[in-house]
Parts: sequence; C-alpha cells; structure tokens
Amino acid sequence: MKVYDAVISRRSIRIFKEKLVDYSILERCIDAARLAPTAMNSQLCEYVIVDDKQLLAGILNSVVLWGGVSKPAGGWSPEKKPLAYIVVLVNLELEKERGCGRSNAFIDVGIALENMVLVALEQGVATCIMTGIDKKKVGEIINAPAKYEVAAMLALGYPDEKVVLETADESVKRWVDAEGVRHVPKRKLEDILHRNRFE
Ligand SMILES: Cc1cc2nc3c(=O)[nH]c(=O)nc-3n(C[C@H](O)[C@H](O)[C@H](O)COP(=O)(O)O)c2cc1C
Repeated sequence: MKVYDAVISRRSIRIFKEKLVDYSILERCIDAARLAPTAMNSQLCEYVIVDDKQLLAGILNSVVLWGGVSKPAGGWSPEKKPLAYIVVLVNLELEKERGCGRSNAFIDVGIALENMVLVALEQGVATCIMTGIDKKKVGEIINAPAKYEVAAMLALGYPDEKVVLETADESVKRWVDAEGVRHVPKRKLEDILHRNRFE
C-alpha cells in the first residue's frame, strides 16, 4: 500500500468485526510509534496494549465521545466494539527532565498516533484515535503510575462499517444515513491552501 493511498483512504472506524487483532500487529504499531520523530528526540511516549477481555469492557466504558456523539444511555454496542486499544501515555518525569515543552509533547503524541494508524491500516486493521475519554479512569484500569499522563487512545479492529468522504462547505458536521453509512465532510483544498501569503 502506497503512503498516499493509505492517507487518502483511511477513515476513522468505530464499528468492528468480532475478530481479534493479532498481538504482533499491535506490537508492530508501537514499534512504528517508537521510531516517530519527537521534539529534541525526547521520546516521552509509552504505550499500553489492552486486549484482555475484562479490561476491554472498562476501557469501552471510559469512552465519552464516540463519533461526535455523547455516550448513548444504554452504553456502546456490546458487539461490534474494538477488541484492542493502545493507550498512549506521556512520561511526565521525562518531560520535565528533557525539557521539550508541553505543546511539543502533544505534537509527538499526534505523530506517534498517526504512525500507528498507518501501520495498522497496511495490515488491514482500522483505527479510531480517541481523546474523548475519561483519562483518569483509563489510567486506573491500566494501573498507570503517577508519573504518566494518559494522552490519548487508539481503538483498533477489523472494519465493519462504511465511511465515505464528503465535501464540506459551511458545516463539518458528520452524519449517518439510513443505510448506516457514515459521511465525513472535509474542507476543500482551495479553502485551506495558501501560497506564500494570504490574499
Ligand atoms: C486528536 C483526535 C481526537 C479524537 N477523539 C475522538 C473521540 O474521542 N471519539 C471519536 O469517536 N473520534 C475521535 N476522533 C476521530 C475524529 O472524530 C475523526 O478523525 C474525524 O471525525 C474525521 O474523520 P476521519 O478520521 O474518518 O477522517 C479523534 C481524532 C483526533 C485526531
């Protein structure tokens, strides 16, 4: 899979088949995150793979936002849920010691996430980056020591939903149609690209 094709075809997926993601694929994702660029080569991020059945339930419950909607009253679907997560943590002691700054640390988190997303995609595994989560709860579930801050989470699995791109005009609001297809509007290239100076 070419990088451009992967970037263009990737969509966040939130409905998954009941098929486990091989541990080796999850490990490969983290290896790709490990080698991502980091500010001052500070490498503050650490990762926890969650694929234990009991822990998965708690992690799913800690999700607050799922696809731009608040948590439904009955909770998330017990089937079709992710069967693996990668929790991304920032080591706060290292952050202090290496002095790369908060905003750089969070850029690093984003780059690491995207490395994992693309490497997973190459293996046929879909993902959804998540920050709409109860980070304290996630930290408790994975038993994270105090020196770590939960920064984000990646849900992973084999896709079981169709997502299509739309062109955004005014609104970037996403919607799901009667067939269950999710529509994701993106701003046009000409609306976001400026050459040299703003007109
Ligand atoms: C930093 C970040 C945080 C996100 N947090 C959530 C989240 O909490 N819940 C969720 O369902 N999607 C989350 N997403 C996924 C976005 O909703 C998704 O990227 C956006 O709707 C565009 O869709 P696409 O990824 O298919 O292009 C997040 C994405 C990013 C980059």
